[in-house]
Amino acid sequence: MRRARRGRSRHNAPVMPGLVIVGAQWGDEGKGKIVDLLADSSDVIVRFQGGNNAGHTIVRDGEKFKFHLIPSGILHADKVCVIGNGVVLDPAILLGEIDGLRRRGVDVANLKISANAHLIMPYHVLLDTAGEVKLGKLSIGTTRRGIGPCYADKALRLGIRVQDLLDEKILRTKIRAALEPKQQALRELSVRRRKMRKEAGEGAERGEPADQSADDTPDPRLDLHTMTEEHVSFGHRLEPHIADTARLCWDALDAGQTVVFEGAQATLLDLDHGTYPFVTSSNPIAGAATIGAGVGPTDIDEVWGVAKAYATRVGAGPFPTELEDDVGRQMLERGQEYGTTTGRERRCGWLDLVALRYAVRLNGMTALTITKLDVLKGIDPLRVAVRYRSKEGAIFDSFPYHQSILHSAEPEYEELPGFDVDVEGARSEAELPPQARAYLSYISEFVGVPIRLVGVGPDREQVVWIGDEPRLQAA
Ligand code: IMP
Repeated sequence: MRRARRGRSRHNAPVMPGLVIVGAQWGDEGKGKIVDLLADSSDVIVRFQGGNNAGHTIVRDGEKFKFHLIPSGILHADKVCVIGNGVVLDPAILLGEIDGLRRRGVDVANLKISANAHLIMPYHVLLDTAGEVKLGKLSIGTTRRGIGPCYADKALRLGIRVQDLLDEKILRTKIRAALEPKQQALRELSVRRRKMRKEAGEGAERGEPADQSADDTPDPRLDLHTMTEEHVSFGHRLEPHIADTARLCWDALDAGQTVVFEGAQATLLDLDHGTYPFVTSSNPIAGAATIGAGVGPTDIDEVWGVAKAYATRVGAGPFPTELEDDVGRQMLERGQEYGTTTGRERRCGWLDLVALRYAVRLNGMTALTITKLDVLKGIDPLRVAVRYRSKEGAIFDSFPYHQSILHSAEPEYEELPGFDVDVEGARSEAELPPQARAYLSYISEFVGVPIRLVGVGPDREQVVWIGDEPRLQAA
């Protein structure tokens, strides 16, 4: 019985059967690499939210692997990788990733997909783009992968789930019910856009996806018959992977195995706790691992947050420590800060400890991992935000709940000495320059959790464990 193993101190736990990995900033912190490392000594890796808006890059023996949907543990053939019920899944994209991995000789037999996960349908992608275009200057800067509209349909109970792919009749009925309001919404949006363009005296724009539904000819991508046929064939291909994944996680935990719950996006993009509305449409914080994988809160033993040694954000929204100078440029170029999913340049800035402390609390983090320390080489002094000052001069030691304060707040910084030596080769704490160690200590003390792992380069070997490597409980 699993309960028999309970009752030990969480912080001194020698093993961590239920471990959640979450992004502690605005995403792209390098969670994939951490999950890939921990996968070595775990049994099951589960993604619990988000969709192919995520992008994880893992560099292995100089070879780059990019995933959008498949859990980062997939490079370990003997591990079970799960796409949990909380994920929204674009079946065409998933099949593309499966095919791509197979071509490179990666075995995907152990990939399991929750029958309850919701599907991103072609109309979700069209609506995402149309919604952003409609918002104009107020747009969120979404990845336009259909994430928001898909989660909206889930809440509206108009969603199509993975299990529906296995029954053509049900699938057709559900697509029909979901499609009708979308066709109407897309038609209205494009009529409005055409009208605006006409008023502005512009000629008709060609090839714009959302506009096609305004023509008298129906958009072929929104044809019920074609969509149903295509999705039935997706169902045939995905069927061997479809499973009761919550049950799979319970069985693993009950057997004393280690389950890593892999978060996508990050805390400050959380639908409830992030910088709304400039957020994603799911909950990337640790608590959501329970809902998105189907386990209970008591199944979570450890929560590790992943933060970069500086900060980045892609898309619109407040970013108090953003830098638009040479230092920001160095972070962009040395850190190769271009979106894995959209290729967009990421906005770069100083590490924001006010926001990081907020993330530690929201996630109930037990440890932090700091990535990309190497990118800071040669920047002296290093700055970290320790409080915000509002336009009116009010001091905020903690993350303000009011969005307008965040938009206009000026961060106040602590300056710490930088380091001008390569850290890429460091494999132990002692091999890091004293300034880098002091920087890490400052972060850890400020936010109140230990740093367990530091990334010093893109390759999976380029890490420094602080203290002992955790003994996960792989079977
Ligand atoms: P959506 O998730 O595509 O709806 O986009 C909403 C916001 O989240 C936008 O600002 C995106 O740039 C951001 N976002 C979504 N996924 C990621 C990610 O994996 N990394 C960083 N930002 C992301």
